[in-house]
Amino acid sequence: MVPLKRRKVTSVQDDNQDSKVCKFPEVAIFIVERKMGASRKAFLSRLARSKGFRIEESYSPSTTHVVSESNTGEEVLAWLNNHTEGKALTGSINLLDISWLTESMAEGKPLAIQDRHRLKTSPKPSADPPATTVKSYACQRRTPLKHHNTFLTDALEILAENAEFNENEGRSVAFRRSASVLKALPHVVRGMDDLKNLPCLGEHSVRVIKEILEDGTSSEVESTRQSEQYQAMKALTGVFGVGVKSADRWFREGLRRPLDLIHTGQKLNLAQQAGVQYYNDLNRPVTKREAVAISHIVEKAVNAVLSGAIITLMGGFRRGKEVGHDVDFLITHLEEGAEEGLMPKVLNWLEEQGLLLYQKTTRNSYLESKDGPARPPHNLDRFERCFSIFKLEKGKEGSGTSLNTSYDSGTTEGITGTTEQPGPSWRAVRVDLVVSPFSQFAFATLGWTGSKLFERELRRWAGQEKGMSLSSHALYDSKQQRYLRANSEEEIFAHLGLEYIPPSERNA
Ligand code: UTP
Ligand code: MN
Repeated sequence: MVPLKRRKVTSVQDDNQDSKVCKFPEVAIFIVERKMGASRKAFLSRLARSKGFRIEESYSPSTTHVVSESNTGEEVLAWLNNHTEGKALTGSINLLDISWLTESMAEGKPLAIQDRHRLKTSPKPSADPPATTVKSYACQRRTPLKHHNTFLTDALEILAENAEFNENEGRSVAFRRSASVLKALPHVVRGMDDLKNLPCLGEHSVRVIKEILEDGTSSEVESTRQSEQYQAMKALTGVFGVGVKSADRWFREGLRRPLDLIHTGQKLNLAQQAGVQYYNDLNRPVTKREAVAISHIVEKAVNAVLSGAIITLMGGFRRGKEVGHDVDFLITHLEEGAEEGLMPKVLNWLEEQGLLLYQKTTRNSYLESKDGPARPPHNLDRFERCFSIFKLEKGKEGSGTSLNTSYDSGTTEGITGTTEQPGPSWRAVRVDLVVSPFSQFAFATLGWTGSKLFERELRRWAGQEKGMSLSSHALYDSKQQRYLRANSEEEIFAHLGLEYIPPSERNA
């Protein structure tokens, strides 16, 4: 902070002209020092101001006339680009020779610009593209997996996570959107100037970024990271089957770690029991290699019960991630309806092979005619879906006890191998299986590829910009009052008026 006294003095800058003196306020002139030198620039500035011209100390977006001496247009552009980091240059800027200013001063008023005053630039618009333009919806941008600003995005995502733990969704999404914008930048953020013109950066995020740029860390992020609540909520929600609500209740009761759930005799559902039992394995990242091994198992299982089914790896692995927290699969069949009843058969097969440690299936409950398109953007979709835990053998397949469950009800759930502990020969892996009818396959593919923020932004774009409603089942156009069909993700992007973004660039 500049002390008040000094601030007062320095705020009266010599370019801050009295309106009586400045006769032509609409013409904002910036004199380029390059080649001219500081003393000649100062002399010309004083002279011009004495004649009522508005001379600006630094180049800004409000500058209308850029004047230089003995420079080519290219040189002036390069110089300006350098001094504004490519931010402020607009196509409409007047690059002029000093003769325009001297002649204007002689006339006592800014002259109309003639061709001979103008510095020539090559026809290509500019050597460097003018600044980075970042579109405001994540689904309009390309976000690669690896980016340049993890030191900022990791920090913002801790605050987003913490806001989720406090059930403050608005705040959480705001932090995630800020982080996502930084992920899309083609360069590292070095100073606050780099944030100019970027969308979605709220005041709070900017404050955090500023602190990290200036001090290396943010006190808010560090105190969050160290806080008992954050650490306990992270550990407790890290148990498969435990959501924020249960974790928060347990935290208030004094529980901190997953084992506290056992020691204090909490009543756990089957998912949570499996979650505690396989806690370490399920919190160890799943590698691409393991995902591929699981793919082979799922293919074998599906092919054993239905020929011609199509099995696709979804989620983070489809976006090119090397590790994930689970493995997601979407299963369909070219022949509409052939996929019906597939899930129970696949699970049966897997159980017989001893490959399942836990599974919970929900039946397909989506009926277009009944449900319509409207659903909250973060709602679970309603495909036939199985949340499961696979027993992945490191060597040959092992054997397990088969499940004794019924598939007649809408929901089935079972846990096996309760006495088994992961050992050196196998590990537990979270696997999600989703079955979609072929007519919904493109929507399901788009919906299950992620990232979560990318999906959320797609739905926000559809609703706010297009008057459409997008889900993992369908796209509904409210204006036309009809469903828009699609056989590929490309067609869905086209319906939405968006440029196609491939999965590897949906890492928003
Ligand atoms: P994941 O939670 O598995 O995330 O959801 P991920 O991107 O694969 O990341 P990791 O590596 O596993 O942590 C995968 C996709 O499935 C969608 C999510 O929106 C995400 O795009 N999904 C998930 C649904 O559509 N519905 C759900 O109920 C769950
Ligand atoms: Mn996943």
